[in-house]
Amino acid sequence: MIVCVCKALRERDISNAVEQGCQSYKALVEKTGCCVECGQCASKVKAMFRVHHSDFLTCQSNAKILNGDSDELPFAATGT
Ligand code: FES
Repeated sequence: MIVCVCKALRERDISNAVEQGCQSYKALVEKTGCCVECGQCASKVKAMFRVHHSDFLTCQSNAKILNGDSDELPFAATGT
């Protein structure tokens, strides 16, 4: 699905940019060029960024736990 018509960007391009290091909406815009032509995609791109960035952080955290690189305990083990 095309997210930004002006730059012909798909949702996968947004998630790839996040995986490649875009840690903010501003960084995403700078890397992809989205949202700067007509701006019609901005709200959709912001929503997608939030979802993909949250997923990315969760995956990073889980990978650290599984690799033993974190002192955090899995969620279920920290309950009362
Ligand atoms: S649709 Fe993204 S800048 Fe126009």
